[in-house]
Amino acid sequence: MTDIEIKKGLAGVTVDYTAISKVNPDTNSLLYRGYPVHELAATEPFEAVAYLLWHGELPDAEQLAALRATERAHRALVPAVQQAIDLLPPGAHPMDEIRTAASVIGAVDLADIGNVMDAVGTPDENLDRSIRLFAALPAIVAYGQRRRRGEALVPPRDDLDYAANFLWMTFGREADEVVVDAFNRSMILYAEHSFNASTFTARVVTSTLSDLYSAVVAAIGALKGPLHGGANEAVLHIFDEIGTADNVAAWLDQALAAKRKIMGFGHRVYKRGDSRVPTMKAALDTLVEHYDRPDVLALYTTLESEFVARKGIYPNLDYPSGPAYNLMGFDTLTFTPLFVAARVTGWTAHIMEQQASNALIRPLSAYNGPDERHIEGYVPDAAVQDAASRPEEAH
Ligand SMILES: CC(C)(COP(=O)(O)OP(=O)(O)OC[C@H]1O[C@@H](n2cnc3c(N)ncnc32)[C@H](O)[C@@H]1OP(=O)(O)O)[C@@H](O)C(=O)NCCC(=O)NCCS
Repeated sequence: MTDIEIKKGLAGVTVDYTAISKVNPDTNSLLYRGYPVHELAATEPFEAVAYLLWHGELPDAEQLAALRATERAHRALVPAVQQAIDLLPPGAHPMDEIRTAASVIGAVDLADIGNVMDAVGTPDENLDRSIRLFAALPAIVAYGQRRRRGEALVPPRDDLDYAANFLWMTFGREADEVVVDAFNRSMILYAEHSFNASTFTARVVTSTLSDLYSAVVAAIGALKGPLHGGANEAVLHIFDEIGTADNVAAWLDQALAAKRKIMGFGHRVYKRGDSRVPTMKAALDTLVEHYDRPDVLALYTTLESEFVARKGIYPNLDYPSGPAYNLMGFDTLTFTPLFVAARVTGWTAHIMEQQASNALIRPLSAYNGPDERHIEGYVPDAAVQDAASRPEEAH
């Protein structure tokens, strides 16, 4: 054994600076470029928050109009992406679908770049790629849900903003304002959260001088896991299992006795509650009223109070967003792809930040396998022996 201190899961390790967001667990606050996220969610369209994450400042009217024009120009599902999705088996998980689609977008966009060094791109090229991914992902999420339901593709509408158009492409009808507002808020709340696992994955890939699309594809892979993005989906499975508020106490006794993790609760950074929850919970309340579903609220509040009373562990953003997306009409399987559509803004902002001040991310490990041993009867030739005596190089 060594006396090296292992930081399992990199818990508590600060690996770099970022100017994109600040999570403060002590004050329960989350700032995007200095702005409290609840203020942004209450006042801004998601497009403006995307601009803020990329540029560091909120857009003026002209800048917002320009971003919206570019976003509208790249909304439609391009044929190569639709074909790639259609080739997947109907049972493919939507996260596999969106990961594949993002990869196809990258392959198409970078098709004429032969040299991997050129694929890294200039800051302007990467901003352009970020906007195009941001614009393209909603159609992929919407088409995925419609395909699984056996419904036809709904083309985008140029007269609708990002959130309203996303809902239009998914459901083929105009959403009520209260639903558009709740959806817009959820996108803003999911957009960015410092060095979480998927963002860090994107930065690791970027640090090797790989391209922005590869970093986003890797980040989608990290987000798929139920300890990260997959949790909002898991919350709905738990709600389905429990059924009604009356069953909560008995269900929880059993689940905790079986040492199950209760999805939607707990957080690596926030230990006294997730700063985004009150805003999303308020959006959920408006949806509960709009759809007249007090039963959902009863289950939500009972599970929360019972779990907090027993474990002192508080809900994270996935807890209110799961039932909110369910009420809006999204299939449970679509929840994590919605998270992708939102978080792509944060990922790409981090990718560009990493590129601007890059250092290859390559930590060390402490070896705890067998001591050195040798293949019986093997006699190395002189050249190998010579190389073995040189100091070890890291790869
Ligand atoms: C998010 C999460 C991975 C954070 O994990 P972490 O900081 O590594 O904390 P740990 O998993 O080590 O948990 C510490 C303790 O709290 C318990 N705990 C944490 N979250 C729990 C949960 N959701 N349900 C039940 N117990 C939980 C752990 O079992 C552990 O107990 P122990 O010390 O008796 O072993 C964890 O809370 C979790 O798995 N939550 C459920 C998944 C989820 O909602 N993810 C979305 C995150 S935004």
